[in-house]
Amino acid sequence: HSRTTVRDIRAAKDRGQRWAMLTAYDVITAGIFDEAGIPVLLVGDSAANTVYGYETTVPITVDELVPLVRAVVRGAPHAMVVADLPFGSYQASPEQALTTATRFLKEGGAHAVKLEGGARVLPQVGALVAAGIPVMGHLGLTPQSVHAFGGYRVQGRDGAGEALLADALGLQEAGAFAVVLEVVPADLAARVTKELLISTVGIGAGADCDAQVLVWQDMAGLTGGQAPRFVKRFADLRTALTDAAAAFRDEVSSGLYPTVEHSY
Ligand code: KIV
Ligand code: NA
Repeated sequence: HSRTTVRDIRAAKDRGQRWAMLTAYDVITAGIFDEAGIPVLLVGDSAANTVYGYETTVPITVDELVPLVRAVVRGAPHAMVVADLPFGSYQASPEQALTTATRFLKEGGAHAVKLEGGARVLPQVGALVAAGIPVMGHLGLTPQSVHAFGGYRVQGRDGAGEALLADALGLQEAGAFAVVLEVVPADLAARVTKELLISTVGIGAGADCDAQVLVWQDMAGLTGGQAPRFVKRFADLRTALTDAAAAFRDEVSSGLYPTVEHSY
């Protein structure tokens, strides 16, 4: 079948059909997730953590993300590929947002972009949509604002819920085709999902969103240590990969690998 488009995403909302999004940062995993039927792949600025080893998503640059986007697009023939606009690459003005998004489409081959924030980025969203670029919004625990939040904590509690709903309606009005809701109370996410005509994509936002997203290394159990409450590990790749590397190490040191079958 052909590549997922924003029209498919709109049709899914109208039919009440839920869908899944995963992050991807390289050609192999992009191909695997595409083959598994994941309709939308996000080249998240979470690559700051999962690829480059930064503490937060604040330092990652457009130059660091564009090659990953290009690799994911090459690896995924069917998925819509959404590129995250990193911190500092769109906040200054609609012109800056358009210049950055243009790089992700022309150099990266992305099909859509995602940016964080509500009211303050509506001029940016409007400019991108006017230029023909599909935009995904991102509200709630927006990691690029970690320093302003004073840590990674639940957003949209109590009175802040009304402001989040207003931001979501603003993004819809500005032409966004979907909005990520990250670490917000489930009842608030359910309310936003009901009020919006565009899709909500939840991460730590309860069961009632139109779609769900996870960072793939969290989804597959590759990341070690304590995961956030919203993560479900659908596999234990960390153990599998550790065991494989240790077995390789052992067979090389003991001379069990390679044998004649591996030789020319
Ligand atoms: O960068 C990212 O991976 C994200 C998702 C978690 C929504 O923005
Ligand atoms: Na992100």
